[in-house]
Amino acid sequence: MSAETIALIVAAGKGERVGGDTPKQFLPLAGLSLVEHSRRALAAHPGIDRVVTVVAAGNEALVEGQTAIGGATRRESVLNGLEAIGAAGRVLIHDAARPIVPATVIDRLLTALDSARGAVPTLPVADTLAGKGAGKSDSLGDTVDRSTLVRVQTPQAFDYAAILAAHHAWPIGEEATDDAQILRRAGHDVAMVDGDQLLDKITYPGDIALAEARLGANMRVRTATGYDVHRLVAGEQLWLGGVLIPHDKGLSGHSDADVALHAITDAVLGTIAAGDIGQHFPPSDSRWKGAESGQFLEHAASLVVAKGGMIDFVDLTIICEAPKIGPYRDAIRDRVAALLRVSREQISVKATTTERLGFTGRGEGIAAQAVVTIRI
Ligand code: CTP
Ligand code: MG
Repeated sequence: MSAETIALIVAAGKGERVGGDTPKQFLPLAGLSLVEHSRRALAAHPGIDRVVTVVAAGNEALVEGQTAIGGATRRESVLNGLEAIGAAGRVLIHDAARPIVPATVIDRLLTALDSARGAVPTLPVADTLAGKGAGKSDSLGDTVDRSTLVRVQTPQAFDYAAILAAHHAWPIGEEATDDAQILRRAGHDVAMVDGDQLLDKITYPGDIALAEARLGANMRVRTATGYDVHRLVAGEQLWLGGVLIPHDKGLSGHSDADVALHAITDAVLGTIAAGDIGQHFPPSDSRWKGAESGQFLEHAASLVVAKGGMIDFVDLTIICEAPKIGPYRDAIRDRVAALLRVSREQISVKATTTERLGFTGRGEGIAAQAVVTIRI
């Protein structure tokens, strides 16, 4: 029997209460989809061996890593996922709609699981609770004693064999909104550990903005600059900001010599003090000969995300006498935004001449400088 600890994320819902065309779990939150936030947090925890994400058929490409296909209800999606896993020692079942997963909660769950078949994070209820629809449908019913109640969150941790058996024993035709109630119905105790407000579920429009604010609350702003120059020569293509621009000359260099992407890449690396582009992609390495510079920028951005940071803003200045950058401004914004997985509004592109002065003025080369702001 496998002793693996597996995290199972259910992401096969329609997100009807949030609304819109894209199910909420695929909406962006600080540069990553909701589901990718929790997937990374779970995958990064040393107590978790692998993560499987349950998605609706056809949505497999919207998530990274291993996937399974969901069902018509949350309960069915979990059951499909459990069966797809095949064998495991322990499983943590998590809603993709809860993007922020503190490692401390996972620690508490795994510890509690040493002496129980199931463990869930809970929080006390702060508001007064009451029934509704007493007499008239819009009048309040009796108050419920909140001291006997808790809010139950995910991830919920289980002995794999016990939760799988409990799902199989669940009565046909009944639904369950979580898995702890399914384990309890099978006669097992479920331990409670302290939950966390950060785990609150995204359910209604507006919840994402709140999650973004919570994510940002503990982050610091960092700003860094990047600068680069390449020589303009005949017979080369001119790549600027990931866009091929028609011109009688192009930039020469070891890679595609995209001076704008190089400046942005250096600025991104600067925000996490991760050295510079030459250190990560040495010109002496033949792998980078003629390479598309987009991959350098994507790599730098992935280092920021891996450290828990998010890219807020890029301000790029291209310094050249010709060509005119204005007609390509939005194409460059879109390309840089796609590489960084942010929106066009977060990318500013400016250009200036140097009044025919210096090497840029004489058309011998193009310079670029960038300022990048992140939160981490
Ligand atoms: N879920 C699922 N399969 C379903 C229904 C729900 O995997 N058939 C998942 C959702 O993707 C979500 C979690 O279960 O991560 C909790 O469900 P909920 O918050 O209700 O999400 P949705 O069902 O997508 O939203 P809504 O009820 O507003 O449509
Ligand atoms: Mg639902």
